[in-house]
Amino acid sequence: MAFLSERSRFVYNALLEEDGIADRMMNKGVRVVKLNRGDPAVYFKTPKYVIDAYVKALRESKTYYSKAQGSAELVHAVQKRYRSMYHVDFPDDGIIATAGLSEALLFINSALINKGDGAIIFKPYYNQYMTQLKLEGGIPIMADYEESRNWAMNPDVIKGKLAKLKLDRRLNRIKYMLITNPNNPTGTVLGRGVLEEVVGIANDYGVMLISDEIYDEIVYNGARFTSLAKLAKGMPHVILNGMSKDYDSTGFRIGFAIIPENDKNSDALKSKLVDYARVRLSLNTPAMYAAAEAIGNMKEHKKAIVHMTAEIEKRVNHSMKILKSNNFVKTVVPNGAFYILPRIDLKALRMKDDREFAQKLLLEEGIQVTRGSGFGAESHFRIVSLAPKGILDYSINKINNFCIRHAKR
Ligand SMILES: Cc1ncc(COP(=O)(O)O)c(C=O)c1O
Repeated sequence: MAFLSERSRFVYNALLEEDGIADRMMNKGVRVVKLNRGDPAVYFKTPKYVIDAYVKALRESKTYYSKAQGSAELVHAVQKRYRSMYHVDFPDDGIIATAGLSEALLFINSALINKGDGAIIFKPYYNQYMTQLKLEGGIPIMADYEESRNWAMNPDVIKGKLAKLKLDRRLNRIKYMLITNPNNPTGTVLGRGVLEEVVGIANDYGVMLISDEIYDEIVYNGARFTSLAKLAKGMPHVILNGMSKDYDSTGFRIGFAIIPENDKNSDALKSKLVDYARVRLSLNTPAMYAAAEAIGNMKEHKKAIVHMTAEIEKRVNHSMKILKSNNFVKTVVPNGAFYILPRIDLKALRMKDDREFAQKLLLEEGIQVTRGSGFGAESHFRIVSLAPKGILDYSINKINNFCIRHAKR
């Protein structure tokens, strides 16, 4: 009998699969530019007021276990944020702090999914969604963000899909529908109209809606973000967010789940998430104090996020400008987060798939991107456009030259 569990086979991260090759190349002295990890803290320093709060917590010996589901300070800071940004109020017990949004997803899947349960996931997806759902024996029910609709979903297609699913006996139940807004890997901010339709559909079918809004302040090119917190009032829903992106603190590992409603299912999930939090005892206490300050000190945060978003907007648009001269890729213009997802003309490049494209690009040019199929977006690749202009110039021009060379072969 195998030593490892059956389900452990689902644990895999496509984002990091070429790190081994990249490391070996770098060890040999080859220049490798890593455009594969969406980590703002590598390129923008975590704001000083946040670092100061972390250091203060350490100096005050706040190094003990803290309340498992999050300190009162953090919970109040989160309430203040949503009141100020979206004019919504949440009760104290509606907020559960976690070790990054990732841990919230892990807890939610474990708390909700029995073997054979379904969850509606939109493609392209953030790869963790699939891993964590499948780990629990869940069945992903795939829906699409459509490239021809600037990567928004088509509500009529979802309705049709749900109507058919009622007949599918493989699925015990559809436990949730998960959306990402702004999106990784497409960089799309969903419009209010389409969100309203999605809320209506989830309501009609009695499916809990989960919205991953970890990039909710990184919105540009004139786009407007609408939080599900504003639209889904009165129906069971979960908002996921955290420190990693807007607060430029990926390594702090602080996130949170907000479950605002008091219906039977929301209450059951809230109280079960507290049980999960208690099993892992505590968060990183000084990081949690820093998070409370990061979120609660809105004046300082505003300065930092305005600067960072303006810079990201410039960098993304700069990359897009260079990519425009490349006849072998086609890209929907992003207006949120910091990702670019070009479609590759594989035929013109005489390549089998996006995996071959990403591998060759790394080996031949020293540019590490992520293959789109890692997000369910075959024939695409994802660029993280966070690096300074000079590095983007160097890398995207290399991508363009790589395409020209392969097309001429
Ligand atoms: C859409 C999305 N959700 C969640 C995460 C992870 O968040 P955290 O660092 O809070 O675990 C990421 C990180 O890239 C992401 O892109």
